[in-house]
Amino acid sequence: MNNLFADPEGSYVLLVNGDGRRSAWPASAPLPPGWRSSDESDALPERGCPAAGPPDPVPYPFRDYHRLDVDPVYAELRADRPVLRIRPPYGDDAWLVTRYDDVKTVLGDPRFSRALTAHNDESRLTPRPVNTSILGTDPPDHTRLRRLLARAFTARRAELLRPGVRAFTATLIDEMTKRGAPADLVEDFALPLTALVICELLGVPYADRPAFRVWLDAFSSTTALSVEQINSRTEALYAYIDGLVAQRRSDPAGDLISALVDAHDETAGITGQELVELVSVLLIAGYETTSAQLANSVLVLFTHPHAHEALRADPGLLPGAVEELIRFVPLDAHVAFGRYAREDVELSGVRIRAGEAVLPVLPSANRDPSTFPRPDELDLCRGRNPHLGFGYGIHRCIGAPLAKVVLEEGLGGLLARFPGLSPAVPPEEMVFKEGVQVRILQTLPVTW
Ligand code: HEM
Repeated sequence: MNNLFADPEGSYVLLVNGDGRRSAWPASAPLPPGWRSSDESDALPERGCPAAGPPDPVPYPFRDYHRLDVDPVYAELRADRPVLRIRPPYGDDAWLVTRYDDVKTVLGDPRFSRALTAHNDESRLTPRPVNTSILGTDPPDHTRLRRLLARAFTARRAELLRPGVRAFTATLIDEMTKRGAPADLVEDFALPLTALVICELLGVPYADRPAFRVWLDAFSSTTALSVEQINSRTEALYAYIDGLVAQRRSDPAGDLISALVDAHDETAGITGQELVELVSVLLIAGYETTSAQLANSVLVLFTHPHAHEALRADPGLLPGAVEELIRFVPLDAHVAFGRYAREDVELSGVRIRAGEAVLPVLPSANRDPSTFPRPDELDLCRGRNPHLGFGYGIHRCIGAPLAKVVLEEGLGGLLARFPGLSPAVPPEEMVFKEGVQVRILQTLPVTW
């Protein structure tokens, strides 16, 4: 028997549920509903034994995310159970993958597919599968869509946008200064800055922000919204983008929507529906993801005063600091989007069979000591930093160069203009949104 109780640390317990199903469970995690401790005479399922089929799954997530903590359970899993059979709240049972090398394989190896999610009951945390557009495709569709975006998202293009980002930053800081402390760095800075940048790039009117920010919540909600709210907000966003596309067709501008409309009309490189979905995904990622990373990074600096002071004293550290903050901030509340195996693949000695789902845990991979010395330390001068915060492989974040420019300019501007920037309430009292896929601060009250 493959007995995890041999573990000298005693870091797993055996659980049994009402159906008599048994499963190993990290001892430090609270018991999942409907499960109780069993005794050692119960046999554990063989893990990954081809004859026995996959072991019984344990319910996932283990618990709600807590602020910017990386659940210590992941360190235990990386050591002892790196590929764990889990049952997510929705969709197929899956393998939870926590080691750096395995997560990289899941993201980068063509034996794992995103497109197959559409042919399955996608393993997920959201009531309905999120339409991730390009991120839901495999080659050749992926190659076709990515090529259409490539020119707008090169590192060179991001650098050309830097002066504009710097000007937006300065304007927002001027307005905060005029109003006086305290300010809310989420509402007064991070959200408007990222909205201004993405609106300008795509050609979405900034004035429409009050409406589209509400619709965008549909894509990140796990439990915050009802299915009806998710459906109606998703449809509202698509109708809105559809309207913008029609407008650009009759009145083209020099923005990305106009360029994509051209591609649709002239070469049929993209269908009308693909166009609407792609613009929506760019708006989601460009707006709230980047804003959340910016606000969370400031909060991390508040709780790491040496790093804060070092960065203020030497802005030359900014590019490396932004990379380290992307590694260190666990932006996903739990997992990234799932993949399905096209063929049998072995990960850390566990056989994933063709057709089975895997869910990679990016925050766990980014804290794997096999790749990052002192992984739980924020080290702004970390030399080699091959983090997976922007993903890996063909789906690696296309907006990464732009996001880095926004983060460098946003953080750099704040530190230069507000040398005394500090939290206006104790950091441990800052409130995060609940029931969402990404860790987002509701407010970040600051003074200076
Ligand atoms: C700090 C900010 C950001 C972070 C941490 C981030 C993170 C990520 C990650 C982890 C992935 C890969 C997901 C996976 O493989 O499952 C991804 C993909 C993607 N991101 Fe970002 N992102 C950020 C900003 C942006 C921005 C600013 C844009 C564009 C405006 C963007 C657009 C995209 C797109 C389109 C994809 C899918 C690419 C593909 O499928 O080829 N992201 N992002």
